[in-house]
Amino acid sequence: MIGHRPHLSVNDEGHLEIGGVDAVGLAETYKTPLYVTDEERVRTRYREVCAAFSRSGYDVRVKYACKANTSLAVLRILRQEGAGADVLSEGELRAALHVGFRPEDIIFTGNNKSDEELLLALESGVVINLDSLHELERLKELCAKRRFKARVSFRINPAVSPKTHPHLATGLKESKFGIQQGEALEAYRAAAEDRHLLVEGIHMHIGSQILDPEVYEEAATRLMETVCSLKEELGIDLGFIDVGGGFGIRYSEGDRYVSIKEFADAIFAAIDRAVEKRRLKKPAIFIEPGRYIVGDSTILLVKVNTVKETPYRKFIGVDAGFNTLARPLLYNAYHEVVVANRMKERPKEVVTIAGNVCESGDILACDRSLPAVSEGDILAFLDTGAYGFIMASQYNFRPRPAVVLVRGGVDMVIRDRESFEDLIEKERIPEELKS
Ligand SMILES: Cc1ncc(COP(=O)(O)O)c(C=O)c1O
Repeated sequence: MIGHRPHLSVNDEGHLEIGGVDAVGLAETYKTPLYVTDEERVRTRYREVCAAFSRSGYDVRVKYACKANTSLAVLRILRQEGAGADVLSEGELRAALHVGFRPEDIIFTGNNKSDEELLLALESGVVINLDSLHELERLKELCAKRRFKARVSFRINPAVSPKTHPHLATGLKESKFGIQQGEALEAYRAAAEDRHLLVEGIHMHIGSQILDPEVYEEAATRLMETVCSLKEELGIDLGFIDVGGGFGIRYSEGDRYVSIKEFADAIFAAIDRAVEKRRLKKPAIFIEPGRYIVGDSTILLVKVNTVKETPYRKFIGVDAGFNTLARPLLYNAYHEVVVANRMKERPKEVVTIAGNVCESGDILACDRSLPAVSEGDILAFLDTGAYGFIMASQYNFRPRPAVVLVRGGVDMVIRDRESFEDLIEKERIPEELKS
């Protein structure tokens, strides 16, 4: 076990293992950079979430946030486990339907949906989670024109500070997401009066990588105020309350440990209070975890290309950059790094791991204590299952890496490494330029 990760271990050769498979062997077989996902870990985390949120009298549904990791194999695993899906684009919606999620188990949230996306959602019959009064008007027009019935909810901005990286906070009062609480009655009244719309629920999502359960209690309390006003002032009984995702994980041993049950207890404290005080019928509760389920299931294997000493720093140059793992640059995120082929050696030096993208911001890990690293060593970035591969790009004209799934001690490719041909496949040189 590496830190708190039971699916990672060290074998007799001193190599990192994931799900019982030698990571160094995987790097040799499939080359680097390489994402490796442990199927069992995804299943275990999903089941932990279900157990923690199970409450008597409440029908709790997990809508996996597909944005965290949209690999079709991962989606299929979660579908097999019984999850529903939270999607936010046409691509995610199509992917969820493609792997067999039933439309009735999908909620489509997006902060400004195109008409095409709204139409696809209408045709599919998924819940459309509206983000603004303008979006409501567009949806009403589309429904009237095309004679569609729409199942809808509204994303409410509860105006709370989730104490996370500013780019990961989505429920601040000045944030671009959702409708303000003060607009909620107007929005629901307008939706309820339209014969093409079926008002089904209410939604919030306050941010990501949140490690403070109290923020959920505060936000859920505010959301429940709106739920109660809808009942008391408009007579609307909502079928579901969706409290979003964002449950944080431990990226470093220094991160605060918060169990998923603590998040569940905080949320239910607020919901129970309102249900009891206002004598509401217990609604279905939706949650949308992404990172919590897939975050620590995956490692990213990279190879050391060069070691460069300067008077200021020792740089370890690896064959991946922010085109492969964007989180360090985007969020100043910390990923633990280990030397996969020297797991038994003790840290001897402090190094900085530099990516191979021509940008000075392309530093994957700064000032880390590692065993003395040489060219050809294999490093593993841990906890890269959420917002890892899915944020990879082809910047610097580098193909995106392969993804391997480890299943019961056996490895299998779930995404091929891209090639130069893939990079140029969609490019066209006009005839006029060919002479
Ligand atoms: C609407 C919505 N739901 C759920 C999530 C999942 O968040 P996380 O992966 O932090 O659980 C996100 C991501 O930010 C989101 O935007």
